[in-house]
Amino acid sequence: MKFFIDTANVDDIKKANDMGIICGVTTNPSLIAKEGRDFNKVIKEITDIVDGPISGEVKATTVDAQGMIDEAREIARIHHNMVIKIPMTAEGLKAVNVLSKEGISCNMTLVFTAAQALLAARAGADYVSPFLGRLDDISTPGIDLIKTIVEIFAIHGIECEIIAASIRNPIHVIDCAKAGADIATVPAQVIFQMINHPLTEQGIEKFQKDYKAVFGE
Ligand code: E4P
Repeated sequence: MKFFIDTANVDDIKKANDMGIICGVTTNPSLIAKEGRDFNKVIKEITDIVDGPISGEVKATTVDAQGMIDEAREIARIHHNMVIKIPMTAEGLKAVNVLSKEGISCNMTLVFTAAQALLAARAGADYVSPFLGRLDDISTPGIDLIKTIVEIFAIHGIECEIIAASIRNPIHVIDCAKAGADIATVPAQVIFQMINHPLTEQGIEKFQKDYKAVFGE
């Protein structure tokens, strides 16, 4: 399973990229709004940091297929690594159908059922983003959705990549890896939680103490 980082914060993206652990980035309208900066500027900066698929979403207020297509074409012009995030609606599917035929890569987002994922793949999406955490939030096991989509795509030889999204903790990440998700898009905070373990910290302290006791500083 590959890792993307789920943020529009360029400092966090740089930190994760410097560690060599991510190969792509996902953003959404809420994440862009959180940074309070111009969409195009932020996206351009991200493309300068990470050489891999960068998801940029059409405006949250654009709900018609033609509007999404027009915006998607503009976003795609920013950089050849851009992937256009399109919400899972009938209009969104129409937009994906047109864009994929033009060679513009699409990530169908806000996917909450396997039926939606299958439709997204058939419309031509290169990526589908099932939201694990938001399902957990309403007491529906999100991981079951990931497992079902993985199974269906394998049975039918569907090449659309599954991005496990709405990841909230390191256990989600491991569950998605076990379920066979192609990619997990992980918030920076969860990446940093994955790095740390109290026994690692204690081990480093002990090694330093033992070393210094014999060899000094
Ligand atoms: C996915 O691409 C979304 O940006 C993201 O994972 C949503 O996560 P949230 O449910 O924590 O907002």
